Amino acid sequence: MKEVGRITWLPEQFTQVAYEELTLTVHAMLEDREHDQLCGGQAECGTCRVRVVQGLNNLTPMTPDERELRAEHPSAFRPDERLACMSRPLGDVVLERASTELRDLRDV
Ligand code: FES
Repeated sequence: MKEVGRITWLPEQFTQVAYEELTLTVHAMLEDREHDQLCGGQAECGTCRVRVVQGLNNLTPMTPDERELRAEHPSAFRPDERLACMSRPLGDVVLERASTELRDLRDV
């Protein structure tokens, strides 16, 4: 796998190597980090959302599925949030969970 930088997770400031081929949710799983993904990475639930504290441009562009979910629920997303299941790193990023109580958007 190609190393492209570091992912830093707040608030712990835990860092790990970022691989271009893996989504942010898979990176979290590699380190046994608790990270909701209730729809299984299908861009349907929004529970995997992360806030990008630094490096928003160091993530792959939004997929059509991510854009569609955001369009359906515009008030649920801040501009600096991304779906971890749809985002892969291209460089250094600093992330934190969007909230500890993210609602499943399939229930909204
Ligand atoms: S896991 Fe459901 S939107 Fe990412």
